[in-house]
Amino acid sequence: MPPILEVKNLYVYYYTLRGIVRAVENVSFSLKPGEALGLAGESGCGKSTLAWALLRLVPPPGKIVKGEIVVDGEDIVHLPEDEIRSRIRWQKISMVFQGAMNALNPVYKIWEQIAEPLIVHRGMTKQQAYKRALEMLRMVGLDETIAERYPHELSGGQKQRVVIAMALAMDPPIVIADEPTTALDTIVQAQILNLLKKLKQELGISFILISHDLSVIAELADKVAIMYAGQIVEYGYIDDVYRSPQHPYTQALLRAIPRLRGPKEKLTYIPGQPPDLRAPPPGCRFAPRCPRVMDICRKKQPPYFDFGNAHVAACWLHTGRREVESPLQAEEELEEQAAG
Ligand SMILES: Nc1ncnc2c1ncn2[C@@H]1O[C@H](COP(=O)(O)OP(=O)(O)O)[C@@H](O)[C@H]1O
Ligand SMILES: [Mg+2]
Repeated sequence: MPPILEVKNLYVYYYTLRGIVRAVENVSFSLKPGEALGLAGESGCGKSTLAWALLRLVPPPGKIVKGEIVVDGEDIVHLPEDEIRSRIRWQKISMVFQGAMNALNPVYKIWEQIAEPLIVHRGMTKQQAYKRALEMLRMVGLDETIAERYPHELSGGQKQRVVIAMALAMDPPIVIADEPTTALDTIVQAQILNLLKKLKQELGISFILISHDLSVIAELADKVAIMYAGQIVEYGYIDDVYRSPQHPYTQALLRAIPRLRGPKEKLTYIPGQPPDLRAPPPGCRFAPRCPRVMDICRKKQPPYFDFGNAHVAACWLHTGRREVESPLQAEEELEEQAAG
């Protein structure tokens, strides 16, 4: 099956007065229809920036510098904004923003918030949009009476369901969920994950699930991209990456999965901090924190080494293995093998 989304050698920088923040560098991956990709990594590694880029919503002073974002066969990087608005954003690819549940408009009823884009973009009448809003509320497991309420009358879990309903309202084949469970307590977190699972199964939606928490990603995703300092350092199917992680950063993240998780727990267990993305270290960006660092790591960027089944890791420990250009190339090769 051809991918619904292909990202090729994508670079996104913020041109700030204090320097260029290289937030996303040379990121490549693909997503097939119905598949879920987890995007993991510590805070500040470029997950949200990558997601914004996929919707062509990188905030200034950020810019997509180069690369391709192929949505359903069409590169959207250079499409004019009016076409993005009329055909792509929310319709082909939509997003549950990080913290969106706390950004619902306090003066509008819930149904109005879901209905507005349907009226504006789909040309629905108010009645049609109201009906669709009720349908969406049911789809995300909420009672229809919620429609007439205001955001402040809802619990955190209910608000999160509402913003998921908003992301689904235009039937997009691709939905990005940026830290959708981070602000919720553990039980509600599990309920929201179950909802996303159900939507994936029943609607065949392709998901990109962003989380700093690998145990959340394991619940929903088929494959995972581990990001560090703006780059994908390891990539592959969940079973392969979780059972035999090949990058010391992935290994550290997996070791750090706490058994009892608090809602706001931060990743403090890997000593040191991610680098300043205005001046990332030469060579491997993880080298300054890596327990297995070697000379070459501080000098030369590692290529992606191939572990089979589209599992790749960018780490010099694996010198001698076959190199591939990108996670995308590894996936294409796997696809070709499968085809015969
Ligand atoms: N609007 C902005 N202006 C300048 N730098 C930004 C902006 N937004 C994010 N960044 C920087 O880009 C990098 C990646 O941030 P972000 O994409 O938010 O990471 P994550 O979602 O993984 O926490 C960080 O260094 C962050 O400081
Ligand atoms: Mg983020």
